[in-house]
Amino acid sequence: MEHKINVAIVGYGVVGNGVAKILDTQKELLKQKSGLEINLKKVFTRNWNKDFPHPIEDSRRAKDLDEILNDEDIHIVVELAGGIDFPYYLINKALDKNKHIVTANKALLAEKGKDIFTKAQEKNLRIGFEASVAGGIPIIKALREGLVANDIKKIYGILNGTTNYILTSMYKEGKSFNQTLEEAKKNGYAEADPTLDINGTDAAHKISILSSLSFGGFVDFSHVYVEGIQKIDTIDIDLGKELGYTLKLLAIAKSHNEEVEIRVHPTFLPSDHPLSKVDGVFNAVMVEGDNVGETMFYGRGAGSLPTASAVVSDIVSIAKSISLGIGNEIEITSVNWKHKDLNLTKVKDFYTRYYIRFTVPDVTGILAKIASVFAKYDISIAAVIQKEKVVKLQKSVSNKVVPLVILTHTASENNVQLAIKEIVKNNYSIEEPVIIRVEDEEK
Ligand code: HSE
Repeated sequence: MEHKINVAIVGYGVVGNGVAKILDTQKELLKQKSGLEINLKKVFTRNWNKDFPHPIEDSRRAKDLDEILNDEDIHIVVELAGGIDFPYYLINKALDKNKHIVTANKALLAEKGKDIFTKAQEKNLRIGFEASVAGGIPIIKALREGLVANDIKKIYGILNGTTNYILTSMYKEGKSFNQTLEEAKKNGYAEADPTLDINGTDAAHKISILSSLSFGGFVDFSHVYVEGIQKIDTIDIDLGKELGYTLKLLAIAKSHNEEVEIRVHPTFLPSDHPLSKVDGVFNAVMVEGDNVGETMFYGRGAGSLPTASAVVSDIVSIAKSISLGIGNEIEITSVNWKHKDLNLTKVKDFYTRYYIRFTVPDVTGILAKIASVFAKYDISIAAVIQKEKVVKLQKSVSNKVVPLVILTHTASENNVQLAIKEIVKNNYSIEEPVIIRVEDEEK
């Protein structure tokens, strides 16, 4: 049995520093817990010319990638460089050199996972990616091992801390989206360029990875339905609150026999739902299995040490396999990760509940006209709120314009889109209606 496992880190940012700190300062603890000595042998970064929270001495600084790739004593390469192209190149090279991989890179796995996992399996090497979804929450291990006795029915995830921080502030303090985003940047909760967080892509990458693990197939990321929070207005958060709902950027995956429905969008959840209580930068995942029922996982989805905690768990897990001589096939079969593509439900075939806010002229009969279009498309109305509060005056006829909110029962996405089109065409709503999907079981 091999007891000393050598590791190299490529990319020495916030997470890399956290991983090095744990490996260097908690060596004894890791040895006690795993029976293995895990040694951080080399670190590569493009720029050593700055201060690091966990400095690395010269003897462990790799001058180029080859120093790591050509070192036969390095068993595991930890990719923490970020982006897609460079990590893809690096991981391919490292697999060619028979090294196991640990990565936190959800974008890479969601968009190029098929290539990487196929190659790793062919070479009987392992890819650890616990840190790629929900940072420190061990959700990958939970799906792969703890919940292996279950047919997974549904996953709900709050998988992006930046957007959850923004929506929590908007809900609790009534601040606008832009105001909250600026605050989040100032406090270091949002990255300088938070585009992929705000537009839902980051959460979509993560739910795609969870779906692959849960439903046993690859996800064609280009077909995942994604909507971000950039257009959310406090008026909808307030009106939702009145109806008993809290707004979250929810990542949803549901299994329907031969199809899997995957979508990420702003979603109203009942305010007493456990996920509605997940505030600020925290992440949470609710998984429903046929045997276990509902389970919930909660914790920090980002940050140096929480993410490093997940990376080190992968390093230890792979180190154990190496020392026991177990290969990759265990990893693949235990998640039923068949090398096939999942059949994704088309957007028009989604069925859910809807909150729709129209901006209507305050004239006789407008509600009846809108209701008749809903009836035509077989959309059943559950609740209506019309505010006397004037949003603005309609110039042409100097009518008052007010918000009208309709909450539907479960309806077909296709029919809702057709109804909205007709309502807008007939000028019943003088602005493009705001549509927010609602996840709430029918009573
Ligand atoms: N930017 C992500 C978030 C963390 O805001 O949750 C890294 O996945």
